[in-house]
Amino acid sequence: MLFSTRPKEDRRDLYDREREIDMIKESIERREWVSVIGPKRVGKTSLVNVAVKETNNAVIQVNLMRLYDPRKKQYPKEDFIRLFLESVNTSIRNYTALGKAIRIVSNILGVEGQGELDLNSLKLKARLKRLRGQDISYLLSEMNSLARDNGKKLVVVLDESQELSKVMGVNFSSIFHHVYDNCENTVIVFTGSQSRLVERVLRNMEYSEPFFGRYIRTVPLGRFTRDQSVDFLERGFREEGVKVERDVIEGVVDLLDGIPGWLTLFGSEYSFGVKHGLKPNLEKIVDRATEEVKSEVLNFLEASQSPFRYSAIILALDRVRSATLNEIVKVASSILGEEIPEPRVYEMLKRLVDLEFVMKDGDRYKLQPDEPGMRGTVMAAKEILQGRE
Ligand SMILES: Nc1ncnc2c1ncn2[C@@H]1O[C@H](COP(=O)(O)OP(=O)(O)OP(=O)(O)O)[C@@H](O)[C@H]1O
Ligand SMILES: [Mg+2]
Repeated sequence: MLFSTRPKEDRRDLYDREREIDMIKESIERREWVSVIGPKRVGKTSLVNVAVKETNNAVIQVNLMRLYDPRKKQYPKEDFIRLFLESVNTSIRNYTALGKAIRIVSNILGVEGQGELDLNSLKLKARLKRLRGQDISYLLSEMNSLARDNGKKLVVVLDESQELSKVMGVNFSSIFHHVYDNCENTVIVFTGSQSRLVERVLRNMEYSEPFFGRYIRTVPLGRFTRDQSVDFLERGFREEGVKVERDVIEGVVDLLDGIPGWLTLFGSEYSFGVKHGLKPNLEKIVDRATEEVKSEVLNFLEASQSPFRYSAIILALDRVRSATLNEIVKVASSILGEEIPEPRVYEMLKRLVDLEFVMKDGDRYKLQPDEPGMRGTVMAAKEILQGRE
């Protein structure tokens, strides 16, 4: 169903994205590493799920968002290792070809391995801390061979890979180099919602040779166009057997501006309402999306070094809509009642653009065009500045 709100697994449920699916599949076939980059809720996880599944290979899917904690600037090594081994466990369950890996994992951990490992047991918790990057490289080599012996490739998906930069004490550069050089049958697929951060993560990893820039393909994933958004909603409603007037659809598309995640949420809630005789309430759906953005932006602001300055910049953008650096410096300084140095504003804007909270077009900056994106960001900034008074 197009309007199912979970990440999609099947092409039938994914609207369009044919070109991107082909790009990923072809890259995997040729064993080229790929990174899929796009704003939040645009469908990165869904796209990679569908494309990878269609290649019919062995997959280790690591969802790094599970490490995410806005209060933490860094994650301890053992949290990452537990997540990674859990992902390996799931993979072993799904692909009999990888069955033997359970023994390898047990060996690395120094436990008697039979059946599944309980990674939360106290005994294992202590051992996770002792695991090293080399152990991960070794495990991946072994899984690479197991997959190869069964005529499959090993696809490792690192979802939200910008989070890797916060993991302490694991040398990913060395792991990736090892895998690239020794595991000819393994492909890594990175996804990330913060384009420049992902690039930075990858760039930081090149130490011995200019590696990642050269060998990782980028598949950019963008918002739906206006026509696609309308078509997506019409098809989705047809599938749900719900009749919706064209002007309602146009109105929604004006508000949600091409973000598949919001369009899906709207379609799902609206269909549910109509089917069960409730009056669908667009405002409520936009509010829910707005709340999500707000809490994301609040998390960022609260954890940042200068929450008030960031908030003033956001409110300046709200006031002037589209502005140059110079204009933003003036308006933000007046909102805050103190001069913010221009280089500092520049740096902060860059960070906001990295996070996709703000968009840059030529030399002008503006807030996101979709209503939840814009409203949620501004609400968070207002809340922070109210706390100052
Ligand atoms: N092309 C599409 N067709 C149908 N539904 C889609 C499409 N793209 C995304 N969706 C829906 O939008 C929502 C967000 O998708 P998904 O989780 O794949 O995006 P994401 O970019 O990984 O988001 P996040 O930044 O939150 O990780 C889900 O409900 C998903 O089902
Ligand atoms: Mg995702």
